[in-house]
Amino acid sequence: MFVNNKISEGVFHICVNDRRKSLFENLWPLPNGVAYNCYLINDEKTALIDTVESGSDLDFIQKIELSLGDKELDYLVINHMEPDHSGSIKDVVKRWKDVKIVGNKQTYKILAGYLGSLPNLIEIKDGEELSLGSHNLKFILTPWLHWPETMMTYETTKELLFSGDAFGSYGTLDGGVFDDEVRVEYYLDEMRRYYTNIVGKYSNMVQKALVKLNGISVSHICPVHGLIWRKNPAQILALYDKWSSHESDDAVVVIYASMYGHTESMADHIARSISLKGVKDIRVYDVSKTHVSYLISEVWRCKGVVLGSCAYNTEMHPNMEHLCTELTHYGVKNKKLAIFGSYSWNGGGVRNLLKFAEAVKWDSVCEPIDILGRPTMDKLAEVAVMAQSMADAIKK
Ligand code: FEO
Repeated sequence: MFVNNKISEGVFHICVNDRRKSLFENLWPLPNGVAYNCYLINDEKTALIDTVESGSDLDFIQKIELSLGDKELDYLVINHMEPDHSGSIKDVVKRWKDVKIVGNKQTYKILAGYLGSLPNLIEIKDGEELSLGSHNLKFILTPWLHWPETMMTYETTKELLFSGDAFGSYGTLDGGVFDDEVRVEYYLDEMRRYYTNIVGKYSNMVQKALVKLNGISVSHICPVHGLIWRKNPAQILALYDKWSSHESDDAVVVIYASMYGHTESMADHIARSISLKGVKDIRVYDVSKTHVSYLISEVWRCKGVVLGSCAYNTEMHPNMEHLCTELTHYGVKNKKLAIFGSYSWNGGGVRNLLKFAEAVKWDSVCEPIDILGRPTMDKLAEVAVMAQSMADAIKK
């Protein structure tokens, strides 16, 4: 038994809650699952906006039929071709053989790569419109949110923004579907983790998209993952502006790699010392225990980043190396950085963290601390300087 959620007269939300998939993109953990959203408009003409991952819902076609009533599906609008949204296109075109597929030039390139040559393509350009009767769709090209073909579809009469991946989140919709039906705070961390893992690399393009959306009145933001925003769409727009402009909180994250506890012990001592200098928002993570997706999200959130690594075969610890590679890849900016580590013979952790620091061009607040062996109190004298420098940088 299923019902589709009504967004406004003739506009429906069709949702699949996927609690079986454990890794998004076979990479990012989904402890709370993920929701695939798509949308159906039933007017003189009918349109489905996006689909869902292939095989994620055996009732998907019946759900569309439910909201179509006795009508056929006239249009399938493809905002995004990543398979979590395009995977069921083949089922839709099989069921509605005359459906017209609406996308842009880039959409069709990827579509052909996935499904071969399909008939009934309507290629739209930025700003073009399509009337469905009393509803009217306007297409806004938003490349690289999150692939090159990505676009948004704006329904101009009810001011509904079908935004694709943008403004989405990990996590299933557990009963509540709209932002006024849930405790939004529950979703915020997963929204930021989703943003930083999936869209964050293209933050400059997010900024361009936000400029494009500026001035457009929006009653609902309808993404393809997570909550639909109707009470306070401004909240998620503001968060995207903050995250994509690399603004962060007055907070410090300490992330360490430790084999025998020496670097871990330094991490705790550094965190405590920064706390004593008045910083209240500090988090400490073991890079070998916490998945890199959470660490990327925390680094994005915090203005201060303290990275520590033991030496490992004259390099830094491989798990810290992985984190550093990801942070470089994502182009994380505007951080205050401090580095520490320990070694048993000729080092390598701090030496290689310094190469990372040079590559990402973050603002180093102090000299690194590299300790031979056990970090006894006499060897930790420089931590006070590091803590003060970091606290000063955070409060600035
Ligand atoms: Fe949710 Fe880029 O796909």
